[in-house]
Amino acid sequence: MSSQSSTQGAPLASDKRETFSSRKLFILSAIGSAVGLGNIWRFPYVAYENGGGAFLIPYLVAILCAGIPLLFLDYAVGHRYRGSAPLSYRRANRKAEVLGWWQVLICFIIAIYYAAIIAWAAMYCWFSITKAWDKNPDGAGGFFMNDFLKVQEEVTVGFDFVGPVLIPMFAVWLIAIVIMVAGVNKGISRANAIFMPLLIIMFLVLVVQSVFLPGAIDGLNTFFTPNFEALKNPSVWAAAFGHIFFSLSVAFGIMVTYSSYMKRKSDLTGSGYVVAFANSSFELLAGIGVFAALGFMAYNANSSVDEVAVSGIGLAFIAFPTIVSQAPLGSVIGVLFFGSLVFAGLTSLISILEVIVAAFQDKLGWRRAPATLIVTIPVALISLALFPTTTGLYLLDTMDAFVNQFGILACALVIVIVLGAGLGMLPKLAKHLNRHSSIKVGTGWKVLVGGVGPAALGYMLINEVQTKMAEQYSGYPAWFNGVFGWGMAGALIVGAIILSMVPWSKKSKLDDPEFHQHKKNVEAEEIPEPAGKEY
Ligand code: ALA
Repeated sequence: MSSQSSTQGAPLASDKRETFSSRKLFILSAIGSAVGLGNIWRFPYVAYENGGGAFLIPYLVAILCAGIPLLFLDYAVGHRYRGSAPLSYRRANRKAEVLGWWQVLICFIIAIYYAAIIAWAAMYCWFSITKAWDKNPDGAGGFFMNDFLKVQEEVTVGFDFVGPVLIPMFAVWLIAIVIMVAGVNKGISRANAIFMPLLIIMFLVLVVQSVFLPGAIDGLNTFFTPNFEALKNPSVWAAAFGHIFFSLSVAFGIMVTYSSYMKRKSDLTGSGYVVAFANSSFELLAGIGVFAALGFMAYNANSSVDEVAVSGIGLAFIAFPTIVSQAPLGSVIGVLFFGSLVFAGLTSLISILEVIVAAFQDKLGWRRAPATLIVTIPVALISLALFPTTTGLYLLDTMDAFVNQFGILACALVIVIVLGAGLGMLPKLAKHLNRHSSIKVGTGWKVLVGGVGPAALGYMLINEVQTKMAEQYSGYPAWFNGVFGWGMAGALIVGAIILSMVPWSKKSKLDDPEFHQHKKNVEAEEIPEPAGKEY
């Protein structure tokens, strides 16, 4: 019997919800979550595929009209209701629990493929030193597809494992699980406090090195020159909105979960601005780094940036190795770039896993260490079974596209409708945000979240469904996109409904006395109308 048993029903010290020990650590961890593969690996290729420079316009619109307002919404829900995503939504309204489980399942899908990309990056750190791709007659592209991933031609699901992906993936899962078991302060905060400064230094050195390469300016011109025609395409807008949610870690439970660990008297909006600014700065830096490098590639090949660039998820893994081979101090560039991907990816992966772990911990009343192990080991095994294979790339590509466009985007739409028009909760949440925040939210925020948000997201989503139905994503067979694209996106909703129907355990956090005290305290701190600056 544990010596910590409770006798009077009072919460045990070990049962108390952890809080980040300082605001600085919360901000660092939130930036660690936001800055991830989305910024360094995903943003450059999404921008490139969606009009290059033109993409920056919908991207900025998406940040200001949806990214930041929804980030505040996530903070408000998580901080006010002080729980994992399912518990927070359940406390907001009994019927809203399902939204939280939808987010948990989105995180499950992202986590299983995310670990694979971190593992690729770890291997590419090593390959940068040996310049392994130089031996392939088709260069870095041939090396990535044939020598490294051993991608088979038939688009299917197979279990032909690729050792050089499987082993580093195993290591990634091991590291992530060890950090998670240690908890919010000893695990998550510490990992961020170590990895984030390293990431920032490495990445700045890398970008400075890239922009001084010959030809870099042509790459930057391609990146920054807007092609206004692309703005007429609703898919470009959907890509921008889908991307900003992924990149800011918004609308899939992460910020709800992380903000539930913030101290009661926290400047929520001020922290949100810092996180959003840091995230976008990082993303633009990544765009500059990658496009400067593409400019250098074009210069060396005596052709245009468009001709040397590859679209799709291989951009970072094909463009950068080429530069590693050709640039002065190329190996240093490679280690800095792929090392940055590893650190950025790990800090995001732990935040994605935290959504899943915290949800089960709250619902079933489990302690931290067993909850982490019971939840993350099966997730890791599924990830290890599906992605380090000769067909893993197809699966990753399809899942990433559909979970963003039809998972996160659809979830964001339902949340703004339910919390706004459905439950009329925006005034209450605005008051919550304004209690200790330096920048208050007011009508502007409510209109963006409750009016512009649903209209814009709804329009884009309908358009996306029509476009994706009319053409087969990436030219993959209909059955493949049907099962792993549409089927997966639909299964997340069905799974969320089922999980929300599972009764809360008697030991769960649903009626936690600590929460009732928190609620009383925050209600006492509310101020009726915003004073000062307003969003
Ligand atoms: N926000 C994380 C990323 O950008 C998920 O990769």
